[in-house]
Amino acid sequence: MRISRRDFLAGAGSSACLGILPAAATMALADDGFVELTAGPSLQKIYKESGPASSLWTYNGGVPGPEIRVKRGERVKVRLINQLEEPTSIHWHGVRIDNAMDGVSGLTQDAVPPGETFEYDFVAPDAGTYWYHAHNKSWQQVGRGLYGPLIVEEEEPAFGLDQDLTLILDDWRLDREGALDLESFGSLMDWSHAGRLGNWLTVNGASLPRFDLVAGAAHRVRLINASNARVLEQDLSDLGGKLIALDGQPLKEAMDVPSGGFLMGPGQRADLVVVPAEGRELALREISGADPFDVARFVILPEGTVRASHPTLMANVLPEPDLTSARKLVLDMTGGAMGQMAGMTHGGEPLTRERMRETGQLWGLNGVAGMPEVPFFRTSSGETVLLEIVNDTAFPHAMHTHGHHFRIVEQSRAMVEDTGAFRDTILVAAGETVRIAFVADNPGKWLLHCHMLEHAAAGMMTWFEVL
Ligand code: C2O
Ligand code: CU
Repeated sequence: MRISRRDFLAGAGSSACLGILPAAATMALADDGFVELTAGPSLQKIYKESGPASSLWTYNGGVPGPEIRVKRGERVKVRLINQLEEPTSIHWHGVRIDNAMDGVSGLTQDAVPPGETFEYDFVAPDAGTYWYHAHNKSWQQVGRGLYGPLIVEEEEPAFGLDQDLTLILDDWRLDREGALDLESFGSLMDWSHAGRLGNWLTVNGASLPRFDLVAGAAHRVRLINASNARVLEQDLSDLGGKLIALDGQPLKEAMDVPSGGFLMGPGQRADLVVVPAEGRELALREISGADPFDVARFVILPEGTVRASHPTLMANVLPEPDLTSARKLVLDMTGGAMGQMAGMTHGGEPLTRERMRETGQLWGLNGVAGMPEVPFFRTSSGETVLLEIVNDTAFPHAMHTHGHHFRIVEQSRAMVEDTGAFRDTILVAAGETVRIAFVADNPGKWLLHCHMLEHAAAGMMTWFEVL
């Protein structure tokens, strides 16, 4: 599906849908110090004010959910209150977390039934840009709005709060009237191809919001791709500045923002430092489709008292993989439309065409579609794992490791430039082989899956265990 504003703008009056703000999620702090996140149904307009409301599922009544901010080393304490009609759980994407708090329904906890609560309580060991999202039937729960930002600040934040902006981007599929298209959730067409692609892009739940920047001051702009399946391609040239962190982890050295399109797979984050000059408005543009369009604008306020500085981020302390003693493993991705399916199994049985239709399972990791009973590998804590990921399919995938960040060792086609940063999600182009390495140092059961949520639901999911 083509991503475009134009289809929906036709006849809508050119500026009618600029800057609509959705109902903001409210921050709720209980007496016992827990942040309360209430997952429940909520009617929201994501298209335009005169358009229909969409049946979303949100945290605290707004999309995205409230921004949770702590400092490095502090505890995150969240009480999930489930007011949905189905079970749910929350995953803290990118956090090197205590396994019991990882929020994966069916692996690290039971999904929380309707009407019940669950308390998450964990230390956030690394500063950076993270996000939280539902992790039960994510393809639908995240697709309907259950996500929000989790920001872990440095002990001494290098940027004042006014100069620290979070932009969480989401790609929605709206129907002809402009409401979220509910009917097409679970479409096997999406599951077997590129995933659920939308036709409407929001930033912090709004269409084309405006942000204030102060001329001459350094701002941190945190981008998060919360789309189900859309690989965003952002033109950052207007904003300029430097790329300072990816997936929460600081780069060894700040890099100029890429001059071409900057790719962000689902689940990935990128932090920029932007120092705007006085003058015209700036725009963040999405250029993945045939008709590039602005997704956010930045109004430049005259220089105030805030001085420009180019803060550098203090690195987080992550264990460095030791390639000389690494355990080598291969993860072969197959299946999907136009893909190799021969020999694949699901639940221990051959995956016939018929079973594919029945179960919706049609992607495999090492020949197995869906969560295997036994882990892909078990390892003792402290071992370096060198994982070769071979994409033998006709589509790109965004592979995500829970509980661990990895270094990119090699990429045969380099869909994205390796910046040397630790990542938690990597885009692997069709036909590409990448090698990543990490120290498996966090005991527990960890998911390894494609973050195109339909691909994960359709089988591209496995797990490993650290003893
Ligand atoms: Cu953000 Cu299992 O994922
Ligand atoms: Cu995928």
